[in-house]
Amino acid sequence: MTDQTKNNNLEHLFENNRQWARAILDENPDFFKKLSSQQAPEYLWIGCSDSRVPANELLGLLPGDVFVHRNIANVIVHSDLNCLSVLQFAIQLLKVKHIIVCGHYGCSGVHAALTNRRIGLADNWLRHVQDVHQKHGRYLGEVLPERDRLDRLCELNVIEQATNVSQTTIVQEAWERGQELAIHSWIYDVKDGLLRELDLTLAGPDDLQAKLPQSMARYQE
Ligand code: CO
Repeated sequence: MTDQTKNNNLEHLFENNRQWARAILDENPDFFKKLSSQQAPEYLWIGCSDSRVPANELLGLLPGDVFVHRNIANVIVHSDLNCLSVLQFAIQLLKVKHIIVCGHYGCSGVHAALTNRRIGLADNWLRHVQDVHQKHGRYLGEVLPERDRLDRLCELNVIEQATNVSQTTIVQEAWERGQELAIHSWIYDVKDGLLRELDLTLAGPDDLQAKLPQSMARYQE
């Protein structure tokens, strides 16, 4: 801990901020002026709150490029008004073309769900990840060596949450209107900083039924 944080003085963050804004203006003097009147991101990122998985930075994107929703273990619940409002805003008002559901290896939320570890209020939130665990219990429990279980549950959680996104009324209605919209299933590795694509991209109302069996095939050996 630095002396500054010990003293409750966060001036170093303001200094960082001034340097950051200056660096952007050096490249593009009109950057903030242009952005201040509107945003037109093409992407909605739904990811984990984990501090090691910052959407803009790892995508190499600037302010204005990606609309972001993050929660513990990147869970999409059909009754979560927070997430649904983000989805609706992103799809109907901003007209994003891509929704990226991105999990990450080493997710402590997924780990807690896997091991039934009690951490407090969030247990109720992570119950949704436990549902994913339970749904794939045979594969994760009997088939898979223990060391692989966390990685595979992190991946399966992404696929299940991307499926949930595709089944919301908001996405279904967008596709019915003929709006161009694809949902992507990605996973990020905190150990190498790289994104990987999981095999489920949904771009229309019939895609889930057509593609899910193939996406799930590798989780059944
Ligand atoms: Co996480």
